[in-house]
Amino acid sequence: MLRVRSLAPRLPLALACLVAAGACTDPSGPERPLDGSVLFRRHCARCHGEDGRGVPEVPAARDLTDARVMHNLRNDQIKSVIRMGKPPGMPAFGDKFTDAALEVLVAHVRSLARDAPAPAPLPPASAK
Ligand code: HEC
Repeated sequence: MLRVRSLAPRLPLALACLVAAGACTDPSGPERPLDGSVLFRRHCARCHGEDGRGVPEVPAARDLTDARVMHNLRNDQIKSVIRMGKPPGMPAFGDKFTDAALEVLVAHVRSLARDAPAPAPLPPASAK
């Protein structure tokens, strides 16, 4: 009984440590919080441009602000494009990014198209 009583006040502290430890397991560490725009600028902007519209040197790179393209891509498809690449132009990043990093990257890619105009309605099948 005496033991239990002496331990109880420490419980919140122990929990706080656990939570903090969990937050520290990401290899990017607490000094470098995951930031989709930073990751994008560092790894993607040389081809896709900082704003996602692409750069003249890489004309094949998709305009990531094109809502009509992006609305047709699911999050897991964007993730797998980043992991597997899309030959010939889009390099495969493999295991370079943790799942957490992929999440924030996808969220950033999504945000690029968010303000773009809504997709134009598809023309009727009979239209040529
Ligand atoms: C070396 C240049 C290059 C880099 C670096 C690059 N991409 Fe790409 N990306 C391309 C090209 C080229 C395409 C078009 C591929 C195609 O459709 O044939 C593309 C296509 C894409 C697509 C569309 C795929 C689809 O199915 O339409 C997404 C999403 C994408 N890139 C995201 C990214 C992200 C996120 C990064 C950074 C982690 C990145 N890219 C880095 C060149 C690049």
